[in-house]
Amino acid sequence: MIKRIIRFKEAISTQDTAKRFVNQNKELAIFSLRQKHGRGRQGRTWYSPPGGLYVSLLLFPRTRLSSIPLLASLVIVKVLEDYGFSRLSIHWPNDVLLNEKKVSGIICEQSGDAVICGIGLNVNNDGFIPTLENAISLKIDAGKPFDIDEILTHLIDKFNPLYDELQNRGIKVKEVLNYIDGIGESIEVITSRGVFRGLVHGIDDDWALLLRDETGMIRKFCYGDVRRLRW
Ligand code: BTN
Repeated sequence: MIKRIIRFKEAISTQDTAKRFVNQNKELAIFSLRQKHGRGRQGRTWYSPPGGLYVSLLLFPRTRLSSIPLLASLVIVKVLEDYGFSRLSIHWPNDVLLNEKKVSGIICEQSGDAVICGIGLNVNNDGFIPTLENAISLKIDAGKPFDIDEILTHLIDKFNPLYDELQNRGIKVKEVLNYIDGIGESIEVITSRGVFRGLVHGIDDDWALLLRDETGMIRKFCYGDVRRLRW
């Protein structure tokens, strides 16, 4: 349960700031208005100018570690729905798409007993660097700016009960399935064990991705990056 949000005007990366709090053994959120070196997955940079929402959740989950990124994606979707956005989908497990463009990215890193779940949400960004052509912000989509601090508070308020439910009772996978895009589509999953191609078969009760390869074998992935091969 996150009871405290620590706010900064600037951070190198809120992921690194959160690491400094691990020893305190308390779940909390580290927020910054901008980041000098925001980190994305797979060693990528997360472009972090003012106008975006950058937060790292310091968590000590008891169970179901692998479902944290998907849980965070679900929370983002629910927050954006509350703001009236539709056409939202989850690109398993870490990206939230608005109108098929990336509006939010999530990275989860382990630090001792803690999991640091970093969320980047494009809120009031007016544009993106040319290499990020598939990105969108809430402001670009809605044609008006949003109050970042209000979204942050809403995000934590939505996260807490779902996180609690995940740990104590488990959340029905059906809820997530409603938003997962690409079922039946051809993808590759990039993991530290290699790259695996196949068709998205579904999500199982652990919220892991099920991939059917060309031999018909179903493989289960708890982690990985997904790339669509055909749209
Ligand atoms: C991705 O899509 O590659 C994940 C991007 C995660 C970005 C967030 S912003 C807050 C936190 N601090 C970071 O340096 N990265 C994450």
